Amino acid sequence: MSRVVVTGRVPDAAIEKLRAEHEVEMWPDPEPIGREELLRRVAGVDAVVSLLTERIDAELLDAAGPQLKVVANVAVGYDNIDVPACTERSVVATNTPGVLTDATADIAFGLILMATRRLGEGERLIRSGREWKWGMFFLLGSGLQGKTLGVVGMGGIGQATARRARAFGMEIVYQSRSEIDAGIAAELGARRVELDELLSVSDVVSLHCPYGPATHHLIGAEQLAAMQDSAYLVNTARGPIVDEAALASALREGRIAGAGLDVYEHEPRVHPELRELDNVVLLPHLGSATVETRTAMAVLAAENVLAVLGGQRPPTPIG
Ligand code: GLV
Ligand code: GLV
Repeated sequence: MSRVVVTGRVPDAAIEKLRAEHEVEMWPDPEPIGREELLRRVAGVDAVVSLLTERIDAELLDAAGPQLKVVANVAVGYDNIDVPACTERSVVATNTPGVLTDATADIAFGLILMATRRLGEGERLIRSGREWKWGMFFLLGSGLQGKTLGVVGMGGIGQATARRARAFGMEIVYQSRSEIDAGIAAELGARRVELDELLSVSDVVSLHCPYGPATHHLIGAEQLAAMQDSAYLVNTARGPIVDEAALASALREGRIAGAGLDVYEHEPRVHPELRELDNVVLLPHLGSATVETRTAMAVLAAENVLAVLGGQRPPTPIG
């Protein structure tokens, strides 16, 4: 029996899987575990199942001790994990790719519809109790058919978002570190371009790249200026990919038409100016938030832990 600590509440199915073989301690509160408490609880454990709200760095790995074998993140993004620090200590790090692809693409497309059709504005209007009536020019949005979606980061989630966009009659361009599978590119009619071109030709720009030093403020004032003033920006990836202050200025000054955000630069804080603007839709990081997906993510993290503790290669290692 090894000792496993789970840094926050996860679906029972994952805990049961782990408990069948190991001694498991789970932080039981809906509130994130505090840093001190976390450092205390990891001492002497063999495995950590981490949520994206926890920073897994050298300090934490050292607090755990040299017997630590695996850190299993219950997320596809792993910017909360210092992977080199894990590697130096021979700790295997894993994430949960694949299982949240459709759920996240659904939210990206939901934001595209909300932003372009002004659904949040309409909802807020009715709830405000103000008078409204049908009108020929009332709350007109922008149609998607025949428009171009620019996908930044064409991994699984980017491709799944592009597939939804095709069903809505959109054309696809994408920017990616590598060329995607030719069959998928053909099916999506997707053309690979440089970021500059993507920004200037797209009616909607949707971000699906990982966050790291290379993508910090990938979308800043200059990139927003390169977009059309009728275009929309959607971010379901990680907040700091976008310079939020620059985005707020661009939205306020009408230099782009609108935006839809599920993630924030200083999460869970939201730039105060964004909350005042009507042309931005704000969601509280719901990308993978379905019962089915969260269960699949936690179970995959548990499988990663069980594999490493059993001396096997985990299903989804990072890197
Ligand atoms: C969620 O944001 C994830 O990275 O899984
Ligand atoms: C990554 O892009 C994924 O689809 O999991």
